[in-house]
Amino acid sequence: MAESVPGSVADYLEQHEKKDLLRILTCGSVDDGKSTLIGRILYDTKLIYEDQLAAVNRDSKLYGTTGTDFDPALLTDGLKAEREQGITIDVAYRYFSTNRRKFIIADCPGHEQYTRNMATGASTCNLAIILIDARKGVLTQTRRHSFICSLLGIRHVVVAVNKMDLVNWSEDIFRNIQKEYMEFVERMNFSDIHFIPLSALKGDYVVDHSEAMPWYTGPALLEHLEQVNLSSDRNLVDFRFPVQTVIRPHLDFRGFAGTVASGVVRKGDEVLALPSRRKSRVKSIVTWDGERDEAYPPLAVTLTLEDEIDLSRGDMLVHPNNVPRFADAFEAMVVWMHEDSSKPGRSFWIKQTSNMIPGTLETIRYKIDVNTMRKQEGGDADLHLNEIGRVHISLHRPLAFDPYDKNRQTGSFILIDRATNATVAAGMIVDRLTLDRYGRPATEGSKSRNIRYEDSFVTREDRERLLGQKACTIWLTGLSGSGKSTIAKALERTLHEQGRLCYILDGDNIRHHLNRDLGFSAEDRSENIRRIAEVARLMNDAGIIVITAFISPYRVDRDQARAILEEGQTPDQAGAFRFIEAFVKAPLELCETRDPKGLYRKARSGEITQFTGISAPYEEPARPELILDTASAPIEDTVQQILAYLQEKNNLA
Ligand code: ADX
Repeated sequence: MAESVPGSVADYLEQHEKKDLLRILTCGSVDDGKSTLIGRILYDTKLIYEDQLAAVNRDSKLYGTTGTDFDPALLTDGLKAEREQGITIDVAYRYFSTNRRKFIIADCPGHEQYTRNMATGASTCNLAIILIDARKGVLTQTRRHSFICSLLGIRHVVVAVNKMDLVNWSEDIFRNIQKEYMEFVERMNFSDIHFIPLSALKGDYVVDHSEAMPWYTGPALLEHLEQVNLSSDRNLVDFRFPVQTVIRPHLDFRGFAGTVASGVVRKGDEVLALPSRRKSRVKSIVTWDGERDEAYPPLAVTLTLEDEIDLSRGDMLVHPNNVPRFADAFEAMVVWMHEDSSKPGRSFWIKQTSNMIPGTLETIRYKIDVNTMRKQEGGDADLHLNEIGRVHISLHRPLAFDPYDKNRQTGSFILIDRATNATVAAGMIVDRLTLDRYGRPATEGSKSRNIRYEDSFVTREDRERLLGQKACTIWLTGLSGSGKSTIAKALERTLHEQGRLCYILDGDNIRHHLNRDLGFSAEDRSENIRRIAEVARLMNDAGIIVITAFISPYRVDRDQARAILEEGQTPDQAGAFRFIEAFVKAPLELCETRDPKGLYRKARSGEITQFTGISAPYEEPARPELILDTASAPIEDTVQQILAYLQEKNNLA
């Protein structure tokens, strides 16, 4: 099964290039036969060089655990010093290949004090081999290893039940182990789990089949490793391109170099830059081997764009209709990797893709006992070396990220000590912060410490019952002059006449007071919308129907508003629609002729800058709940349209 000697070097290299790569993590301790297993794979696939073999035969007599026989473990146990100690301490990577696939095996120590090494090894692997000694069955460490693999996003598991020769090749023992493992592993996030009975020492079912277990009809370990389907592992849906370097060899060329973290990008695709939110199109995709039409992970490419937009290291290019989270706080699982323990409130560098930004470890929500997978609440609050905890992290500025579950590249980060530059923890982003019953985490983006939510005795539902209505926010978005304020006022009057309590939040009004510190840059507009959404949220909580009239030109901001207003909804409230995005649609030319405040004229003459539609973009909603066409319908019709929608969705029941 080992690779045959190539006929033509060029053919061979080409064939080799095309094979996919399986990264394997082996979990188990020396006693389980981990090194023996890896040695056996290498030996039986004839991937061992003669001189290495001579050395092993010599050492087998000195250190071997197999008497004077050949001991495959000695092929893999690394440095001599370690051999003499009888343990493996670091992560060692071994490479081999067969005709079907290339393999990298990460071999890291299994003891609890090496959790950090294991996490390091696991972070890049697709598959884990969990070794179980058939005589001992499922042990605490089996659970620990499985948990860490699941946490680090490994989706494929092979449970290698080893030393079957020492239990008389017993099918019952094998089946019991299988049953016990399946019971506890249920809660974990694996997509496939295979069980293989084998003897690493004797070689049964590692590479070759065996007569010893007629009851087993599955593949040998290596066969399985060659066949396991990895296609679903690659995220080819969500295009994420973190910019590593801006390349500008001469004035006519400006390219953005980086590695495609996920998704596929094609020439001509529309792309959105984060955080600037500028849009452009991909002009070319350049690689060392010339231009190409598309790129996917993990290709390293340089993208050039149609427009001159400013991008720097750490920025991200995505597709406009598939954006990552963009937030200045998140919740994560971290593995603590440093002798100095964590102190909540301390600040670190947070490195994610090619970003390095300052941030704070705000709180440690709980630690996890890696052996039992139980939460440990209370107790010692700090995280110590090799401990795993669920934490809140806040950032000094917003960051584009995805949950680790969805994207191992954009969802992982490390914490770096700002004074010593030491890596102190590795983290997996769970998501934006999870929420209390009011839907907001106490510390998200907040500069204050030691604050917490006070629960009141009266709930939104109580207030809604009192008022006989369901609170919601009708979010009108559209160009200046499209008719947002006019619709808002007409709707408010009609609802009021029907006995509903409602209130308008309007751009021009709010910018006089609450948001008087904000202008019209993309950042300021974003903050404008965030605050409005928060105010609307409070009003909804008070039971009031809110109508907002803001241009709110950026999709990400409206999405954030939706998230703020819909978060914290319990399933029983799901029938009510809390956020209704209504696109007030009128062509720019029409708005410009209406020009109620004379602003378009000023914008055209350059008197005011960053004016939406003229010198700043407006991004139409992709899937609004309502489209209100003020170019062809009278205002009264659009109001009826909204009322009908509220009736239909039971918001006015
Ligand atoms: S938003 O983009 O942040 O949502 P908002 O709705 O609050 O804008 O404010 C828009 C109002 O501010 C417009 O109706 C207009 O009267 C006024 N305005 C002044 N300068 C600008 C500008 N550069 N762009 C858009 N609106 C402006």
